[in-house]
Amino acid sequence: MCGIIGIVGDRPVSDRLVEALRRLEYRGYDSAGIATGGAGVIDRRRAEGKLDNLIDVLDGAPLPGTIGIGHTRWATHGAPTKNNAHPHATDRVAVVHNGIIENFQVLREELIAKGHVFQSETDSEVIAHLVTDGLDQGQTPQQAAAATFARLHGAFALGILFSDEDDLLIGARRGSPLVVGYGDGEMYLGSDAMAVGPLSNRICYLAEGDWVELRSAGAIIHDETDAIVEREIRSSSVAAEAIDKGNYPHFMLKEIYEQPTVIGDTLNTYFNALSGKAHMPPMPFDMANVPKITIVACGTAAYAGSVAKYWFEQIARVSVETDVASEFRYREAAMPEGGLAIFVSQSGETADTLAALRYARSQGQHIVSIVNVPDSSIARESDVVLPTHAGPEIGVASTKAFTCQLTVLACLVLTMARARNAIDDAREAILCAALAHVPELARDVLQHDDRILSIAGDMVDARDVLYIGRGSLFPIAMEGALKLKEISYIHAEGYAAGEMKHGPIALVDDGVPIIVLAPSGPLFEKTVSNMHEVIARQGQVFLLSDEAGLKAAGDVPHSIALPDVDAFIAPILYALPVQLLAYHLAVLKGTDIDQPRNLAKSVTVE
Ligand code: M6R
Repeated sequence: MCGIIGIVGDRPVSDRLVEALRRLEYRGYDSAGIATGGAGVIDRRRAEGKLDNLIDVLDGAPLPGTIGIGHTRWATHGAPTKNNAHPHATDRVAVVHNGIIENFQVLREELIAKGHVFQSETDSEVIAHLVTDGLDQGQTPQQAAAATFARLHGAFALGILFSDEDDLLIGARRGSPLVVGYGDGEMYLGSDAMAVGPLSNRICYLAEGDWVELRSAGAIIHDETDAIVEREIRSSSVAAEAIDKGNYPHFMLKEIYEQPTVIGDTLNTYFNALSGKAHMPPMPFDMANVPKITIVACGTAAYAGSVAKYWFEQIARVSVETDVASEFRYREAAMPEGGLAIFVSQSGETADTLAALRYARSQGQHIVSIVNVPDSSIARESDVVLPTHAGPEIGVASTKAFTCQLTVLACLVLTMARARNAIDDAREAILCAALAHVPELARDVLQHDDRILSIAGDMVDARDVLYIGRGSLFPIAMEGALKLKEISYIHAEGYAAGEMKHGPIALVDDGVPIIVLAPSGPLFEKTVSNMHEVIARQGQVFLLSDEAGLKAAGDVPHSIALPDVDAFIAPILYALPVQLLAYHLAVLKGTDIDQPRNLAKSVTVE
């Protein structure tokens, strides 16, 4: 999952390639590079690590040229070194690639036998050599490129630059998205609308298998049979939005603090304050007769789906299956005809989630997606799109997108419960009123930041941390553990509180902090019993509950009193302190909070 950009025109491209890479860094930041061509040579600059390192290189050795390609990398094959950084090049061709070439070993050996010398450990470099091989045999760039695409197995979005062509870039996509941007005397190629958006507001999403010849005056698009085709050019609303941290030291903290506002913005779309009821846009299926719901997503978005499973089953009385997309897409799940499949994704580009969506479509499901990027691949392939209104989420750790996903799902659950006559008016009024108060309650929860910081200080030397909860708080326990792992690199696990005695309690000693998520409600006493089992074994418990819960729990040395709320909305509000705890621990550990090691914001490889 890398970001790619290409520009062909008659003005210098280097600065604009770098600016586009800044917008694409969310796809990976292991290395970055750009290349220009057209004057008989390929010239490139590459650097290991963040884009700033490439900018330093370019400061010392600027890159001229009016045609070029750029890349920001999340390493799949080969370590994140300068040598493995894209663009990969021969003396005739340079290539940027997002995806994985599955048959690269076979191709590489074949090309080595023909005398090609490889410089990197990547799968991508074979593409540059295959195209070069075609050119060496007298093929045109178009012929060499098309012949190369036919030999590649796996997923790719590509940008190809030629040493001898000052007005031709070739792009191609199979499995990974690629966008063409139309400018005035200039054309663009990019991984997504965000890459080309500020350069051009007229874009075209290439279809699966397409490849494109891009010249400064326009584009010729070919389908997978090489026939010339027309694709829709649409206007893009992605602007060169200035996204900054404001007065916050990190995007993650800013995004945590934005939650009261963006949850409110999301509620404004799916909740009518006058009627006091949740509502949904028209659905092309009857909500009252959905036989089954399947919710599929990855990472944090999958935990939003897991919370929603409790809600759908308890409130709307409909059977729900949840799965992570990387498993779901290959397990040939049996799905009843006419079922509802819900896909949750901040980016809308997660490769596994998109593949799972396509499987569900093949099984006759109605496809609803909950995404934060309305023009994303997942949105474009859905029957109904329910956008979250979290605004751009820059920190790799998902925070505000998660609570907005929960907000949309809560509204969907209430709407479906009403359609199915599964809820009476009085109960609906209670749940709706609770939901309407989430933004102000979220503001109250954030007031506990100082206390959470002090708890983080008590935990900073922990090697392992456990999070436990029951019911809809179990997925929040897993989400808390995921947040902590990904940004502080402290090992953490989330467990169903009742499962502790089936194994994990063996981990407990006086060096293992245990975060207990136990709002008052039907499962409170059970969770507190599990907490005491841990305390009895010297576990260092940190209890998150409300005033009544803390009183009932007895003497617990470390606790935070959160607002007293209906159990329905507790998972949304309890997500905030676990986000803040992970954040403060990561600050104390001195990690790279917004761009943690080994990760990328959008995972576009399987
Ligand atoms: O863009 P998506 O919501 O589809 O991304 C899914 C996961 O990759 C994402 O939630 C990931 O787990 C986050 N880094 C967690 O904070």
